[in-house]
Amino acid sequence: MTRATILGLGSYVPERVLTNADFERMVDTSHEWIMTRTGIAERHIARPDEDTSDMCAAAAREAFADAGVTPEEIDLVIAGTVTPDFLVPSLACIIQKKLGLINAATMDVVAACAGFIHGLSVAQAYIACGTFKKILVFGAEKLSSITDYTDRGTCILFGDAAGAAIVGPATDDSGILAIHIKSDGRHDELLNIPAGGTHLPVVGNGSVDPRLSKLHMKGNEVFKFAVRHMGDAALRVIADAGLTPDQVDLLVPHQANIRIIKATAARLRLPMDKVYLNIEKYGNTSAASIPLALDQAVHEGRIKKGDIVLGVAFGGGLTWGAVLLRW
Ligand code: UT7
Repeated sequence: MTRATILGLGSYVPERVLTNADFERMVDTSHEWIMTRTGIAERHIARPDEDTSDMCAAAAREAFADAGVTPEEIDLVIAGTVTPDFLVPSLACIIQKKLGLINAATMDVVAACAGFIHGLSVAQAYIACGTFKKILVFGAEKLSSITDYTDRGTCILFGDAAGAAIVGPATDDSGILAIHIKSDGRHDELLNIPAGGTHLPVVGNGSVDPRLSKLHMKGNEVFKFAVRHMGDAALRVIADAGLTPDQVDLLVPHQANIRIIKATAARLRLPMDKVYLNIEKYGNTSAASIPLALDQAVHEGRIKKGDIVLGVAFGGGLTWGAVLLRW
């Protein structure tokens, strides 16, 4: 089977920044509480007229330049998101239109914060069997559009961003060594948006509390699952690749909470200088978190050719996944 590799990366974060001081004016919270409990100081928020697809298009333009690939070469677009511009058509279709990806098939993947790794696993399978040759995989979110800014338990966490990766067949020893995805839908109520689907449609006559169209989370329960499953998934891909945790050069975790990240690193016995962190500046950007962090880590020289890189994510569903790559 052909090994899939990342040929190029790009990312985008909106300009506007919400600081912890801003939240002190909005809800009953403090900079100290947010920093200690989450590690977040700032998050970026998209303009009202800036859609998820606009952020994706900006990220993709960087990825095209990085990979030396043209839009016409893309034969599949996979968009990992829970905040598409529309329910129909898919976010991937809108991106296709905006970037002129005339030769591509398109699909969205809904796996919350694990959306990018889920998308990457789909891309890897298509590359392995030879169906597609150049796949554009996004993790992108405009979480500000589904955040309840009156709920201090969630609003301080989330930011907006997009990350893009161009995936294709490896021509050297780089690429995905192992990838694993998993879900447990029995815990659907721990992180959800109650209204807006067929179960509780929003009809616009005021019959549904608008807050039900925003993200709801039982944070401390999600926390426990995240610590367990991120560690398990990480150990699994390392074992599947025939490696040991000490051979990992950089852990690039979903940036949900500094305490979850530290617990995951401790489980793998990885020192924190082998962990990439940008949570302080961007907060939790859900599916965008890992591709944004990967792109920044490469630009900062934290990932070099030949490095073993571990990505691991956890999110609503519940969903989780891990990927081990040789860069
Ligand atoms: O992205 C993928 C999935 N998401 C996650 O992985 C997130 C996982 N969960 C978390 O990161 C954490 O659970 C939170 C950061 C959301 C919350 O931290 P926590 O340590 O689990 O706090 P808690 O929910 O147990 O709440 C402890 C206290 C409560 O007050 P009482 O009942 O003890 O008086 C909360 O009301 O902290 C209070 N609290 C706050 N206080 C100040 C909750 N949010 C805030 C806040 N500022 N923003």
